Amino acid sequence: MSKVTRTHAFRTRAIHAGARIDPTTRSSAPPIDMSSTFLLDADYVDRGFEAEGQGGQDAPYIYARWGNPTARMLEARVASLENAEDALSFASGMAAATGLLLHLLHAGDHLVISDVSYVGVAEFVRVNLPRMGVAVTVVDSSNLDELAAAIRPNTRLVYIETPANPILKITDIAAAAQIAHAAGSLLAVDSTFATPLATRPAELGADFVIHALTKYFCGHGDAMGGAVAGRRAAIEALRVDSGVHLGASLSPFNCWLIMRGIDTLALRMAAHEQNAMAIAGFLERHPRVTRVMYPGLPSHPQHDLARRQMANFSGMLTFQARDAHDLARAMAQHLQVFHYAVSLGHQRSLVVHMDTAELMDKSFKLNPAHEARFREFAGDGIFRMSVGLEDADDLCADLDQVLAIE
Ligand SMILES: Cc1ncc(COP(=O)(O)O)c(C=O)c1O
Repeated sequence: MSKVTRTHAFRTRAIHAGARIDPTTRSSAPPIDMSSTFLLDADYVDRGFEAEGQGGQDAPYIYARWGNPTARMLEARVASLENAEDALSFASGMAAATGLLLHLLHAGDHLVISDVSYVGVAEFVRVNLPRMGVAVTVVDSSNLDELAAAIRPNTRLVYIETPANPILKITDIAAAAQIAHAAGSLLAVDSTFATPLATRPAELGADFVIHALTKYFCGHGDAMGGAVAGRRAAIEALRVDSGVHLGASLSPFNCWLIMRGIDTLALRMAAHEQNAMAIAGFLERHPRVTRVMYPGLPSHPQHDLARRQMANFSGMLTFQARDAHDLARAMAQHLQVFHYAVSLGHQRSLVVHMDTAELMDKSFKLNPAHEARFREFAGDGIFRMSVGLEDADDLCADLDQVLAIE
């Protein structure tokens, strides 16, 4: 294993944590172990190989769905960057979220979840969990009194996402952790938009940190993956339940691609933030743009909390504009540098229009108070932008030419 430890700085750990030098080849770049099975030693003849207790960090490899050397390297690196004891990788961010929810929640349990959650997670929670006998309360998690009031004696888990996709609403993680723990519940935080460079939820008291590694960790838009980080025993239990039984394991090749992305995570996040600031400023000055939302702007309704909780404001921003549907069509046809596409966290800048009514239809059915709060951030619709790493002047010029099309 790498000699780089938690005492080393983030940028050093991003490159070295979890890396293992192969004793035969001594290659400097990490190897990709594609093997789906591993030679068993003689002990297994008598011991058997049930999954329980065999997914641990130092356990020998048996079968790749339970653990794989390349996946272990990635998991150790994610755990190091999140300052968590351990992590488990998944085939996608959705697999990480649903794997954790299915592992923790059983019939009779209650889940409290933020009213703004990634739409795939919201749909799963709204449709699938109640079918399994799990009760769900949807709250505006940025309102801590409302969050506290929603907790019941059988609340097993509080699930938040911050900043929330797509409207960039922020939840106070430390306060949410206190509320959850005071009631004997656990807190899970989807920190995909923030990345550990900005916010490390485990340090703020979260029990589980969820990532769509597909986004900033990978950083290049060419590999899907997910992860859950947390305490060692909890991750080992999750590995048995989700990895072994649900089987959404991440391909070693994707682990390797994502690790290669993580090498430059800190540098990329600094550049994403710098470009996002420049574009936010350009958009705020543009006459067709009616509202810009970026946690790094003093005009963001939760800028003070963002400053307290985020060491980097990331590359995600939203804006509202006149004649939004015409503009969306013009973007799809005429953007030259930006890609009109979903997803985020890539080196390429991405932008997509999202209609508020459609978002609400797909996500949670919001009560009037939650809807009003949603519209405070999103109006009737937003352009969600993942600002990439191209030259900021070229990005602004590209937006300028498309905003001029009526
Ligand atoms: C905040 C957040 N969580 C989870 C996911 C799901 O990740 P994946 O697309 O890798 O399944 C996404 C996807 O956009 C996301 O934005």
